[in-house]
Amino acid sequence: MCGIVGILGRSDVAERLVNGLKRLEYRGYDSAGIAVVNGKSVDVRRAVGKLDNLTSALATDAPEGWVGIGHTRWATHGAATQTNAHPHKVGLVTLVHNGIIENHADLRSELETLGVHLSSETDTEVAAAWLNHLLGRSKTLDDAFQKLLDKLVGSYALAVVFEGYPELIFVARQGSPLAIGYGQPDADGSMEVFVGSDALALAPFTDQVSYLEDGDWAAIHSDRVEIFNRNGAKIARDVLTIAAQDFVVDKGPWPHYMRKEIEEQPDSLSRLLGTLVDSGAANLKPCLEGIDFAKADRIVLLACGTAHYACHLASYWIEDIARIPVEIDLASEYRYRNRPLTGREIVIAVSQSGETADTLSALTALADQVAARLAVVNVPTSSIARVSDAILNIQAGPEIGVASTKAFTGQLMALMALALKAGRDRGVLSEDRLGALVTELTSVPRIVGDTLRLAPEIDALARRLAPASDIYFLGRDVNYPLALEAALKMKEISYIHAEAYAAGELKHGPIALVEDGTPVIIFENPGELNEKTASNAAEVAARGADLVTIGPSKNCALRTTAVGPIATTFSYAVVAQLLAYFVAVAKGTDVDQPRNLAKSVTVE
Ligand code: M6R
Repeated sequence: MCGIVGILGRSDVAERLVNGLKRLEYRGYDSAGIAVVNGKSVDVRRAVGKLDNLTSALATDAPEGWVGIGHTRWATHGAATQTNAHPHKVGLVTLVHNGIIENHADLRSELETLGVHLSSETDTEVAAAWLNHLLGRSKTLDDAFQKLLDKLVGSYALAVVFEGYPELIFVARQGSPLAIGYGQPDADGSMEVFVGSDALALAPFTDQVSYLEDGDWAAIHSDRVEIFNRNGAKIARDVLTIAAQDFVVDKGPWPHYMRKEIEEQPDSLSRLLGTLVDSGAANLKPCLEGIDFAKADRIVLLACGTAHYACHLASYWIEDIARIPVEIDLASEYRYRNRPLTGREIVIAVSQSGETADTLSALTALADQVAARLAVVNVPTSSIARVSDAILNIQAGPEIGVASTKAFTGQLMALMALALKAGRDRGVLSEDRLGALVTELTSVPRIVGDTLRLAPEIDALARRLAPASDIYFLGRDVNYPLALEAALKMKEISYIHAEAYAAGELKHGPIALVEDGTPVIIFENPGELNEKTASNAAEVAARGADLVTIGPSKNCALRTTAVGPIATTFSYAVVAQLLAYFVAVAKGTDVDQPRNLAKSVTVE
């Protein structure tokens, strides 16, 4: 949450800072601001609301200067006001921050006893004020910065510029990601240097990127970048070349990123499939060769939000195909549970961004306690990927819409491939069944393409549902987690109260919510469970529900193609995405940047 950019450049930076922020706006859009060093002074500009407000304010009066920092905010401490917007300037220090400084209240009280009074409610201004205070009590800037970092408890990525130091940016990372990008060096070895919360922000400027590790801080000068670890030792971090395809970010012909990302799924899934299976031989390609599921006694799946629902759904597949117990939990719960471990667990963290704070912490805490830690991510250079023993990259390309869509189906496909590998490693999956499952998986991009063609019908259904105040989704078996994901999609972008229940659970309470006209959406189960689901549909219809059945049967309100159970799951996922999308469009909400949310949840 919150995005940071910084540039130590050779020409004016204001416009480039805003460009970098544009690519980070998915991390938060409560306010935005930049600070540009101009000679000996620092010019700060801030605006409440989306980045466009800042852009308009800068259009006729942009600050001049070659060095600067910028920020897009997702409010944690203090409302979305101009005073609480970053950058925060206190004395000689101007600072931007992503994360939460947990001891901010104590630090603020100490400042007050020192006679320092702050103007904002933020934890960030506390850090700026402390650094300003420490400058007067330290021999060097480095010394003061190190002392500040020693005082801070919590998570942060920081970028700082100083009045009187026109060619310097300090940065630090503890629990919130930060990358340094390097421009082309001149003959004298000097170069432009860039800072960003992720490589996406740096893409317009460079493809040469280093990631800071937790505890690292760096002093960026015009002729050198010095990186130090938490013990103050000077260190080098690898410089990676980031693939250009990671950086293609535009809406194409679509009105929203979310729609574009939904429509991309046949391609994103084909790309992933190509790395996972040999469709000609109907077999898995070699993957994660160092990981042996035969030695594991349990699989633990950890994630948040949509990624958690992908795990929940895949747990049915893994238990069925690989005959191994699967534990799933929300990373935010798991990390604080006193869970018994045998040391033979294979833990799989699933995260689109690879930066979700709870998932990262849960995974990090398991180091040396389990047999292996895998990451299923969309960003192979992310923090979660870097702390894992092995990664499976879902290769969906940048997902900018806050509502996760193509990442969800990519996660499902990757987890299905892991189920197949686990089944094979454990000797419980016959060649015939493996071949049949791979063949079905190979059909998924085509089936997803067929489902996308239902868009006009789904749009019509969405217009009918848009006035509802509550919508319920029901499903059995894999359709239960799918219903949970459908409800999450609906609530996050349409703001309609949506809940999902296991269809069999209905009579244990939730059916009391059904009254005349309540929309209830049911995903049909292919196979033997269908009669049970059909009974549940009849029960809600008998109580006046506005029933919408989705499935291949001819009596379904929305008919999908009749295919195998795995392909059906992907098809339903796309229906759920389009349904939420069209309801949100009908209601005129901000589809790509829904209220109160941010794409990447990098604080607890
Ligand atoms: O980047 P991650 O996959 O770790 O993100 C997890 C959730 O924050 C994310 O899926 C969130 O629930 C989405 N907004 C759902 O559409």
